[in-house]
Amino acid sequence: MRSPESLPGLVVLTGAGISQESGLATFRDAGGVWLTEGIENVATPAAFRRNPARVHAFYNARRAQLAAVAPNAAHRALAELERAWVARGGDFLLVTQNIDDLHARAGNERVVQMHGALRRGRCLACREVLPVAGDIGVDTACPRCGKVGGMRPDIVWFGEMPLHMPAIMAALDACGLFVSIGTSGVVYPAAGFIAEVAGRARTVELNLEPSAGTPLFDEARHGPATEVVPAFVAELLA
Ligand code: APR
Repeated sequence: MRSPESLPGLVVLTGAGISQESGLATFRDAGGVWLTEGIENVATPAAFRRNPARVHAFYNARRAQLAAVAPNAAHRALAELERAWVARGGDFLLVTQNIDDLHARAGNERVVQMHGALRRGRCLACREVLPVAGDIGVDTACPRCGKVGGMRPDIVWFGEMPLHMPAIMAALDACGLFVSIGTSGVVYPAAGFIAEVAGRARTVELNLEPSAGTPLFDEARHGPATEVVPAFVAELLA
């Protein structure tokens, strides 16, 4: 990831806070997903072995929600940022912990979903990863190998390896600017990215409130993503 001297390589990390104003609940705030449903019931490999129907129902409901929401001003600002940064010859990677598809729908292309994607399924029998528009159930057959009952959401559960880590680490190693948006900074490895880059890249946190990682950032701006992200992007591109 090399950029002209004047334009540092840019890595943006996002979490659930960026999609909150689109109508998707975060995980740990009041009303958060993990306050109404236990992680151990729906977001671990053991939960899926124990009760796959419950896990499918949880992710089916969240997948269905995507049809009712749209990217907000913060997502759109990041799409504009990518277009402008790349047009000026800068390297850009958007790393999201979010399993919604709002960054892609806003227009970001250089985006990796490290915790998987709601609109993808994976077959435990043949390992094929496939797009999923509707529900997955215990009686769903794999469209590739035909095995019934082996389909799971292509989501990274607690205890599993996040996706795209080599590309993410390479981008972090080379970046000169790291911006973290809408994440509480408590789930690793994403929570550790700031420590990776601190001291050698400019680091900025944009979040509703101070996060666990705030003391490590050079700069923190606190407020709703739809306000602080477009303002920061406009300043950066000015
Ligand atoms: N604008 C900006 N930030 C917001 C907004 C908003 N409108 N609303 C909430 N936030 C902030 C909260 O203050 C909080 O710091 O977003 C953060 C959301 O934190 P979490 O709910 O912990 O979500 P996240 O950091 O994305 O969680 C990481 O945990 O369970 C896993 O896999 C799940 O990817 C998720 C990971």
